[in-house]
Amino acid sequence: MLSSVMRYAGAWKKTTLLSMLVMLLGIVCSVAPYWFVYELVRALLLREPMGAQFIAVRAAAIAGFGVLYGVLYVKGLDLSHRAAYHTLENLRFSLQGKLEKQPLGVIQEKGTGTIKKLFVDDIDTVELLLAHALPEGFANTAVPVIIYIAMFIADWKLALLSLASLPLGLIAMGAMYKCGTSKMGEYYTAAQKMNNTIVEYINGMEVVKVFNRDGESYRRFETDVRSYRDFTLAWYKVCWPWMALYNSILPCVALFTLPLGALFVLLGWSQVSALALVLCMSAGIGVPLMRALSFVSTLPQLDYKIKALEAALDAEPLKETSAPFCGKGREVSFENVRFSYSSPAPGSGTAPASDEVIHGVSLHIPEGSVTALVGESGSGKSTLGKLLVHFYDVTGGAIRIGGQDIREMSLEALNDQISYVAQEQFLFNTTLLENIRLGHPGATDAEVMAAAEKAQCTEFFSRLPQGANTPAGDGGKQLSGGERQRISLARAILKNAPIVVLDEATAFMDPENEEKMNEAIAEVIEGKTVIVIAHRLRSIMGADQICVLDKGFLADCGTHEELLERCRAYKTLWTASERSAEWGVTAAEGGDGK
Ligand SMILES: Nc1ncnc2c1ncn2[C@@H]1O[C@H](COP(=O)(O)OP(=O)(O)OP(=O)(O)O)[C@@H](O)[C@H]1O
Ligand SMILES: [Mg+2]
Repeated sequence: MLSSVMRYAGAWKKTTLLSMLVMLLGIVCSVAPYWFVYELVRALLLREPMGAQFIAVRAAAIAGFGVLYGVLYVKGLDLSHRAAYHTLENLRFSLQGKLEKQPLGVIQEKGTGTIKKLFVDDIDTVELLLAHALPEGFANTAVPVIIYIAMFIADWKLALLSLASLPLGLIAMGAMYKCGTSKMGEYYTAAQKMNNTIVEYINGMEVVKVFNRDGESYRRFETDVRSYRDFTLAWYKVCWPWMALYNSILPCVALFTLPLGALFVLLGWSQVSALALVLCMSAGIGVPLMRALSFVSTLPQLDYKIKALEAALDAEPLKETSAPFCGKGREVSFENVRFSYSSPAPGSGTAPASDEVIHGVSLHIPEGSVTALVGESGSGKSTLGKLLVHFYDVTGGAIRIGGQDIREMSLEALNDQISYVAQEQFLFNTTLLENIRLGHPGATDAEVMAAAEKAQCTEFFSRLPQGANTPAGDGGKQLSGGERQRISLARAILKNAPIVVLDEATAFMDPENEEKMNEAIAEVIEGKTVIVIAHRLRSIMGADQICVLDKGFLADCGTHEELLERCRAYKTLWTASERSAEWGVTAAEGGDGK
């Protein structure tokens, strides 16, 4: 556990070690006063003559060590926290880097709640490990060991008596661990489920409001919150009695030492001064021992969370190399591509998964041509687009650009080649201008505005209070679907990559805007290799080739006329598309007539 965390500490590893040393010195200072207390008690018991100086020196030493303890403890904490928070920072950046390189499916499968928990809560646990459990745990364990050795040197019989209560406390502690760890898995699963459900519930608030709160979503929310409560209480319930027991037994180091030690003195087996020393030392042991053990008690939880972190950090990334793009030209080819959204089971080899959604699609898209992907909803059009931009690894076959497999270049190199406008757009909660600039971070304001103009954004910018500097809202929720689409298009226009993938890029637009947009698109895609996905077939009639997808199979490929003649699936799509266009026109005319 520790070694895997320390991998991310880097140069701060030394600071963590230094904090352990400083903390150890601090704890030694915290128990040192008990020695001077012993000297005073011993002098009193043996009625040795004590001058004012003798008392003053000891009192000053007690106070001095107290202050020193405070200073060293604070310094130790300062060092351990600095090291811990830098390690946390490294861990968060590493996790972000790893997630970025993983298939989108892995992220979607985990859920936003779990990912947020990994990034925030689980990584914060490392703070407990590095800033507290490690330095304080180490120092607080080392000191009792030193004191016990000193006790043995002073009087082994009395030292054994001091140790006698320890096994009882440890048995109670062991029992607590056993019960605690047996329930921990269920507790964390319940916590993760609740996290995901809460995030989903908040994201789906619109649906929840439209339907009623007794809906499925609310019921799941209710069930998961309740089951989290039940699992937590069940977990605590089995732990509490044992916790109470060890908490009361462990600090009582003098449990046997005081009565039996007194008997030993009366029997002449031990010296009264040795008894005084052992009792004073026992008093100094209780607090560090409890602290050390309380850190030990957090270790199973830490271990569990760090394992979850490690699993996320070590998950299989997307296949890529560090090679630059070196394809010959920008022709795109899908070669017998198979794909399933669920990750293949280990050892399943190349056998197609039962939930495969793309079944051996082979498609050649010449450089500088426009290819349209059409097909019924769910036929796999968007999936092919996502596979080309390498959101996922294909489960069979290959996708090449200019002959180079997209898995044999870096994700950045691939990214430079493609402008992708997704079917669902996400905008960051920054200004609209900055959202467009993401397409080409080095672009000037004038270049960004020029792209915005081409994508018909300026028209709605003028209606917004701060124009292009209006914040997009959380996920772009302050904009309409069509407006979000135009921002995404502007992003793609600004990026100006040689390959363009447009997934229903104008689906939310009204006919007037769509027409203007199509003109803009026509200008932007000039000379580029283009894949356009559309439901309104009229907009892609002029494409160089139209590929018809049918339930994940490629049914046919050809021009509009060729397909109308020979492809039944295309004819059905065309008739349906024309009918809905006619319906749109009739509806619009009806509206105008009023
Ligand atoms: N993230 C996902 N996880 C699991 N299955 C998915 C996921 N996304 C899509 N699918 C499934 O893959 C199949 C193809 O989906 P895809 O989104 O490619 O269809 P499409 O042709 O783009 O449909 P539409 O025209 O409605 O956008 C569908 O059966 C869909 O249910
Ligand atoms: Mg789609």
